[in-house]
Order: sequence, then C-alpha cells, then structure tokens
Amino acid sequence: MGRVAELAGVSVRTLHHYDEIGLVRPSARTGGRYRAYSAADVERLREVLAYRRLGFGLREVAELVGDPAVDAVAHLRRLRALVVERRERADAMVAAIDWELAARAKGLTVTPEEQLGMLGARLYDAIGGAYTATRRTDPRIADRIWSALGNARTVLNVGAGTGSYEPTDRVVVAVEPSAVMRAQRPAGAAPCVAAAAESLPFEDGAFDAAMAVSTVHHWGDPLAGLRELRRVARRVVVLTFDTDEPDWPSRFWLTRDYLPEFAGVLAGFPSLAGMAEAIGARAEPVPVPWDCADGLFEAYWRRPAAYLEEPVRRAMSVWTRVGPEAERRAVQGLRADLDSGRWAERNGGLAELTAVDLGLRLLVT
Ligand SMILES: C[S@@+](CC[C@H](N)C(=O)[O-])C[C@H]1O[C@@H](n2cnc3c(N)ncnc32)[C@H](O)[C@@H]1O
Repeated sequence: MGRVAELAGVSVRTLHHYDEIGLVRPSARTGGRYRAYSAADVERLREVLAYRRLGFGLREVAELVGDPAVDAVAHLRRLRALVVERRERADAMVAAIDWELAARAKGLTVTPEEQLGMLGARLYDAIGGAYTATRRTDPRIADRIWSALGNARTVLNVGAGTGSYEPTDRVVVAVEPSAVMRAQRPAGAAPCVAAAAESLPFEDGAFDAAMAVSTVHHWGDPLAGLRELRRVARRVVVLTFDTDEPDWPSRFWLTRDYLPEFAGVLAGFPSLAGMAEAIGARAEPVPVPWDCADGLFEAYWRRPAAYLEEPVRRAMSVWTRVGPEAERRAVQGLRADLDSGRWAERNGGLAELTAVDLGLRLLVT
C-alpha cells in the first residue's frame, strides 16, 4: 500500500479510505499474506484519481468507474473528452480576459452601450463550447414558434446560437454575436451575420418575420433589441421569460428551494408587459414538456437528478451567472434531498404532470 501510495502521489490514508468505501480494494495477496494491489487495481486507482482531479465527487467517481459496460479504453476516451472540454473553456475565458485587459489598456475606448451589447456575446464566447451537449430543438416548442411565424417566407433569427428552432422550409438569415456559437452552427445551416440585436445591420422591413429564442435576457438592452426586430420585420416572435409576478422564483422548485440567486440574475430584466408593449405583442404561455429535448434551465423539472450532472449545468448560462459558490450549494442541497427522499416528498405531485407552466412566454405581434 505504501509503495502504491508513493507511486500514485496520494497518502496511505487516502488509499485506506478508498478501500473502506469499496472504491479501490487491493485484491491480491503477497507471500506473507499482506494484501496488495493487482495490476487491475492499480488501473482502477488511476481512473479514480483522474476523475477526482477533474473535480468529480467520490460518489460520482464510484458510479463512473463502477459501470461494467465501460472498459479502460472507454474511460480514457471519456477522460480525454472531459479534459479537452475544460481546456477549451479555460482558453475561451483567457481570450475574454485578454480582450478586457486590452480594452482597459486602451483606456476603455468602448462606450458603455457597446460594453452592454457585448456582455451576452462574451458570456457565450466563454461558455458556448458546452452548449450542444444538451441544447437542441424541442419539437413541441418548435411547433409553437413555427406556427406563430404564420406564412412568413423570410425569417431573421436573432441570437441564433447554433441554429435550434430555425425552420427549414423558409428562407432564414441568422444573427449571432458570439464567435464560439457561430463556429458550432452545423454545415448547411442558414447564413449567419456577426451582429447584436440592439443594432441590426438590415433595412426597415427587410424580413417577413424576426424570431428570437431564449436570448433576450442576454441582451445589454432588451427593449432596444426588441424594437430593432420590429423595425426590420413585419412580424416578431420571441420566446422569453415572465418575471411580472413578484413571487415568480417560487414557480419552479429549483429556484424556490435551491437557487434563489437566480432572481438576482434577472433583477434588471424588463417586465413581460413592458416587452410586449414595446413591440405591440400578445403573450402566450409555453408549457415545458416533462421530457423537453432542449436542455434549457427549466427542462428537467420532472427529472431532478439531471441537475446534478455537470454537462447539463454547463449548457445553462444561469449556473455561470450565479457563480460557483451558489452552484455548489444548490447542487449539494439537491443531492442531499434526492438521497433522503425530501425532494420527492415536496414535489411528488409532479410525477403525474406531462407539461407545466414555468414562466416561458411566446411574444407574438
Ligand atoms: C441561450 S442561447 C440561445 C441560442 C438559440 N436561440 C437557441 O434557442 O438555442 C443565447 C444566445 O444569445 C446570444 N446573444 C447574447 N447577447 C446577444 C445580443 N446582444 N444580441 C443577439 N444575440 C445575443 C448568445 O451569444 C447566445 O448564442
């Protein structure tokens, strides 16, 4: 045990602990009947330590290495993908910090309006690499958006991201300010212009319709952006979020019981009524299906364990915006309540529902 601890760069105490909890058990015997690590035990230890260094908790590591369907090569592939993903995220953050340092060195030549306009794009330059793991078109939400587009032949998709919800039977032009998001648009997707909602590079009335999905809350000036959509298109269709009821954070158990900080993130967001008025739209509720295919923040209301998964959270900007401390606390609290049965006690009624209104609204002019 001492030799293995030395080679692996961990303490003997750690190895004892892994043995006690059954994570890595020395299964061989020496001549003197001491327990010893076989080659397979050492391989398992190496996997455990690699997952630990990537920040996984002991329980998650036990699940990862305990899966009999996953062999050593598959573990190495998975570890490699995780390390590459982290490296990409770190690279994007370094680029964002460099950008900010350069701007500051130049004496902040960008105006406050420009800074606000770029905030959302810079956030997605930092976190967008993790987007496509779980974010894709949900067919029921898509139906609602596409029927709201009516008979529009030409459609502008603003804050288009990787292209979810872009109709394939109409002429679409996309607008997306984040280079990281633009780079992930699939081959054959609609042409994409690098611009922000607040200042669209198109003539008045250039499109039959303009759409914006899950993006308005990232804009530096949401009302100015919505007016721009109205300027360039005859019809506007926007999927956004209703914060008009003072008690809105209690609508969803995740914000109510684990992540109250979400309310702070949307503190300066305009009211739904204000947004509707700015473009002369009506608001329709869009219930979230229990098996929503698009991994948006509310998607897993009936599948709570999904929020314990790092890739699921990384594809939702909320977790980055509340910061690592709030995230850690929320995840720990949820995990404890799922284990103890407290979550099921409080939210048992959800199991019978197939879709719920969690505040998503379609604004349609
Ligand atoms: C949650 S993603 C939604 C992407 C896509 N509409 C979808 O439904 O998958 C939000 C997108 O808004 C973009 N965004 C941020 N600020 C923006 C702005 N000022 N104007 C237009 N888009 C913006 C981000 O870069 C990001 O791609």
